[in-house]
Amino acid sequence: MTKLILGKDVSAEIYEELRARIENLKSKGVTPGLAVILVGDDPASQVYVRKKGEMCEELGMKSVTVRMPADTTQEQLMDKVEELNNDPAIHGFIVQLPLPKHLDEEAVINAIDPKKDVDCFHPSNVGRVLIGNPDFLPATPAGIQQMLVRSGISTAGKHIVVVGRSNIVGKPMAAMMVQKGAGADSTVTIAHSRTQNLPEITRLADILIVAIGKPRFVTADMVKEGAVVIDVGTNRVEDPTHPKGSRLVGDVDFENVKDKASAITPVPGGVGPMTICMLMANSVTAAEKASGVIQ
Ligand SMILES: NC(=O)c1ccc[n+]([C@@H]2O[C@H](COP(=O)([O-])OP(=O)(O)OC[C@H]3O[C@@H](n4cnc5c(N)ncnc54)[C@H](OP(=O)(O)O)[C@@H]3O)[C@@H](O)[C@H]2O)c1
Repeated sequence: MTKLILGKDVSAEIYEELRARIENLKSKGVTPGLAVILVGDDPASQVYVRKKGEMCEELGMKSVTVRMPADTTQEQLMDKVEELNNDPAIHGFIVQLPLPKHLDEEAVINAIDPKKDVDCFHPSNVGRVLIGNPDFLPATPAGIQQMLVRSGISTAGKHIVVVGRSNIVGKPMAAMMVQKGAGADSTVTIAHSRTQNLPEITRLADILIVAIGKPRFVTADMVKEGAVVIDVGTNRVEDPTHPKGSRLVGDVDFENVKDKASAITPVPGGVGPMTICMLMANSVTAAEKASGVIQ
C-alpha cells in the first residue's frame, strides 16, 4: 500500500510544538514578530502574504505586513529593510519575491540582517546551511526534511536524487541531505535541465525529490519500484471539468507513479502546507535566539 505523505498532518504536529514554544516565549514577555514586505500587487504574492499573516495570528504571533507600491524605489525599499533590521519587536522578516523588475533583489537580500533572515536567503545563511551549522533552514527544503523524518523514512545511506537546482529548493535541499546526522547522511545527486539520461538517474533514487515546475514531467518509468517520491512542483493547468477551469498539478504524474512508489506527496496537499509552517518555525527560532531562550 502506497503511503500518502500529507503536509497538513505533518505541519499540524509542528504547529503544536510551535504553540508550546510561543507560550514559553510569551511567559518571558516576548511575542515573536514576523514582518513581510510586499512590493506591488502581484496576485499570487498577495495570497501568500495573506496566508502568512493569518497563520501568525492563529499562532498568537505579532504579524506586520508592509505594503509598498509597485513604483517603490530601491532606496525606499532599502530604508524599509533597515528599519525592520532595527525594530526589536520584529524577530524575523521576509521580502516577498519576485520584486518588480526595476528593483535589485540581490542587493535587498544582502541588506537583511542574517539573524532576521527567516527565508534563509542571505548568503551568510546559505553558507551556514552548506557547512552544517545553520541558524535557519530554508522553508521548503526544511519542510521536506520534516516530512521524511516525521513519516519514519530513513535517509541515512539512501540515494537521494534532487531534480532542479534552484537557490530556494534544489541546491539547499541537496546541501541539507548531504550533512552528517539525523534526517540526512544521504548520498545525493542533483539533476537539472542539462543532465543527460535523466530517467536512468532518477531510477537510481531511493528518495526522488522533484522541483522543476513542469506539469506531470516525472512518469512511472522514471521511478524505481518502492521509491519515496516528493513532488515540490505547483503548476496550474487547464481543466474544463474543474469549476475554476484550471487546477494545480505537481511535477510528478501522480496517478501513474503512486502505485510504484512506497510513499508519495500529492499536489495539492503535499509539500505546499509545509513551507509556511517552516517559515513560522524559523520566526519562532529567531525570537528564541534574540531573547536568549536558545543560543
Ligand atoms: N510547494 C511549495 O511550497 C513550493 C516552493 C517553491 C517552489 N515550488 C514549485 O516548485 C517548482 C520548482 O520551483 P523552483 O523555484 O525550485 O525552480 P526554478 O527556479 O523554476 O528552476 C527550475 C529548475 O528545474 C530544472 N529543470 C527545468 N526543466 C527541467 C527538465 N526538463 N529536466 C530536468 N530539470 C529541469 C531547471 O534546470 P536549469 O537550472 O538547468 O534551468 C532548474 O534548475 C515550481 O513549480 C514551483 O512553483 C513549490
